[in-house]
Amino acid sequence: MDFSEIRELDRAYHAETYAYFPVAFAGGKNATLLSTDQKTYIDFGAGIATNIFGVNDESWKAAVIDQLNKIQHVCNYYYAEPQSRLAQLLCTRSGAKRVFFANSGAEANECALKAARKYSAQKYGDGVRAGIVSLKDSFHGRTLFTLSATGQEAFHRWFSPFVPGIVSAEKDMDDIRRVADERTCAVIIECVQGESGVTALSESFVRALEAYCKERDILLICDEVQCGNGRTGKLYAYQHYGISPDIVTTAKGLGGGLPIGACLFFDKTEHVLQPGDHGSTFGGNPVCCAGAVNVISRLTDEFLLEVQGKAAYLRAKLKGLDGVRGVTGLGMMIGLEIEKNAKAVAAECLDRGLLVLTAHERLRLVPPLTITKTEMDEGLSILKEVLA
Ligand SMILES: Cc1ncc(COP(=O)(O)O)c(C=O)c1O
Repeated sequence: MDFSEIRELDRAYHAETYAYFPVAFAGGKNATLLSTDQKTYIDFGAGIATNIFGVNDESWKAAVIDQLNKIQHVCNYYYAEPQSRLAQLLCTRSGAKRVFFANSGAEANECALKAARKYSAQKYGDGVRAGIVSLKDSFHGRTLFTLSATGQEAFHRWFSPFVPGIVSAEKDMDDIRRVADERTCAVIIECVQGESGVTALSESFVRALEAYCKERDILLICDEVQCGNGRTGKLYAYQHYGISPDIVTTAKGLGGGLPIGACLFFDKTEHVLQPGDHGSTFGGNPVCCAGAVNVISRLTDEFLLEVQGKAAYLRAKLKGLDGVRGVTGLGMMIGLEIEKNAKAVAAECLDRGLLVLTAHERLRLVPPLTITKTEMDEGLSILKEVLA
């Protein structure tokens, strides 16, 4: 099919939820994508921080295909080797004690929030400490529970009533003290808020928040759906802050492009979920887990050092571009404060063969972690022309 045929079908039959750019992709290699009309694009978006090894990565494909050749789905009545291996890998790499597998970031967060309520219900009585505190400008997903925890009013239009017991606090301890009390079971944070503009939380705030939560037995949940999996140069972004969360959620890059989410339980929360409490038909799908085993095994210290190097290179180059007011975020999760309108810049970049994302008024750059210097330089030179 050529592009206009694809677009026609989509316009006729697909739900109208997405405002697409006028392009469809047919393939590519690493951070260079090929469209259906044979144009190449440098990819600074990685399918929103998901294709962390770009496209057509040989080792990842081999792992996925090997599993496909064995068995594609096993229901959760039975064991499956890729699931067990991935759970072990995630625990040994992070210090977590147990993992629940979901299919997406929202579902990983849904699991975390449910588990937090159960933790407190068992300890303090059902409903006594059901409160959840999230942060303003956060994004935690599109299910009703995670949407209720998303601290951005724009996402709330049309969908009330929301899950009760959730408030969003300012990113300062005074406001946290005001809203997080003896009726609160958990605080959920993104160490780098992605969707609202790629903003890293301050170290002093995150550390003070951790201490506050620990003193009161309030669980600290780190949503690492976007900022996890090596994106910031460490396996998880919270590791930059020297904190120990009680629950960590992750998705996007975890599957390298296949749908999988995970909820990691640390010491306090290890045994919270018991048979029948939670589940998912596709959660822990063996093909997705095989892809994720390949991803996590390759995020070695050496690989992460390379990511840090690439991030430093990109950040230094971006800072020097005309039209750039500031560079935010952490590692390869980059926000660009620019003089021009971000959406218009993204559209112009696309015209010239570069994919960038936006996050509110900023550009959001989250390239594949395997991006080469040549690909970075090509992308930077397009960005330079468009921003000037
Ligand atoms: C921090 C964060 N949490 C949760 C989600 C929801 O993930 P998903 O779209 O996989 O449900 C996202 C998606 O952008 C995210 O950035």
